[in-house]
Amino acid sequence: MADFNVRYEEYRSYFENELNSFCNDIKTNPEILGESMKYSLLLGGKRVRPVLMYAVGDAVGVDRETLTPYAIALEMIHTYSLIHDDLPEMDNDDFRRGKPSNHKKFGQANAVLAGDGLLNTAFSVLFGECYKGRDYVSAAKLICDCAGIYGMIAGQSADILHEHDANPTVETLDYIYDNKTAKLITAAICVPSVLVGGKQYSRFKKLGEKIGYLFQLTDDILDAEGSFISLGKSVGKDEKEDKLTAVKLYGLQECKLFADMCESECNMLIDGIDGEVQFLHEFVTFVKNRHN
Ligand code: IPE
Ligand code: IPE
Ligand code: MG
Ligand code: MG
Ligand code: MG
Repeated sequence: MADFNVRYEEYRSYFENELNSFCNDIKTNPEILGESMKYSLLLGGKRVRPVLMYAVGDAVGVDRETLTPYAIALEMIHTYSLIHDDLPEMDNDDFRRGKPSNHKKFGQANAVLAGDGLLNTAFSVLFGECYKGRDYVSAAKLICDCAGIYGMIAGQSADILHEHDANPTVETLDYIYDNKTAKLITAAICVPSVLVGGKQYSRFKKLGEKIGYLFQLTDDILDAEGSFISLGKSVGKDEKEDKLTAVKLYGLQECKLFADMCESECNMLIDGIDGEVQFLHEFVTFVKNRHN
């Protein structure tokens, strides 16, 4: 795992530098718009989506310079989803990435606009790549589709709709997980493959779906038994808001067994991928055992 940590940190810090220089060029009128966007974007976070994108890029032969606009766009979309997710009318969370959530710092109206600003800027960045060729267009469209009404937003909508479900079903839970979380993670994993003409695309897609599912499963487990200090966000919120989570449906102990099973399934999928995949195996273990 020591090598894994070094490589993760290398990908993460590379991304962080790129994101910082991108943000230095964001200058808005009124200033508060850019300030509120950058507040959430630069607060940290694990950057799992950019890291995964770079790691798959190394496995299929796409360099970081090529991937960086896609990684920045995806992280902006992810961050906007978190800002809106925390709003009082959604999950009503006061903390994010260890700091007051966007609406706590800037007010609800500015938080909505910061999210809108991040989404639109992400689209501009993606369009900016499209002149390079057909694969670049396909990769940009993949991110838009995964973020949209058949992706993350659909999952968020179902998440809200199914609060307080008296008879929750496995199908509904899976729909929520597959969309609100797994779609953006699948996008991260599939972009490099799309950029090389779809090499091993269906294998990466299946892997993205499974890692994404595991990621939300561990998020729900951590909400039930993690700590504010390591997570940087409130805990116990899912139960309080009566969210439809795996913990509600299966119970905490079953969820942990389920996470072990998902980990094995991810590893089997990774075994079917050609290329240097050791980092991906270790990434799955990291997701399974994470504390933040
Ligand atoms: C949190 O995502 C929301 C989910 C999809 C579970 P992350 O756990 O990736 O959040 P950051 O980016 O590290 O803050
Ligand atoms: C969020 O799921 C998924 C998103 C698309 C933002 P959660 O609502 O469980 O994420 P946290 O726990 O607030 O980070
Ligand atoms: Mg939520
Ligand atoms: Mg939430
Ligand atoms: Mg959660």
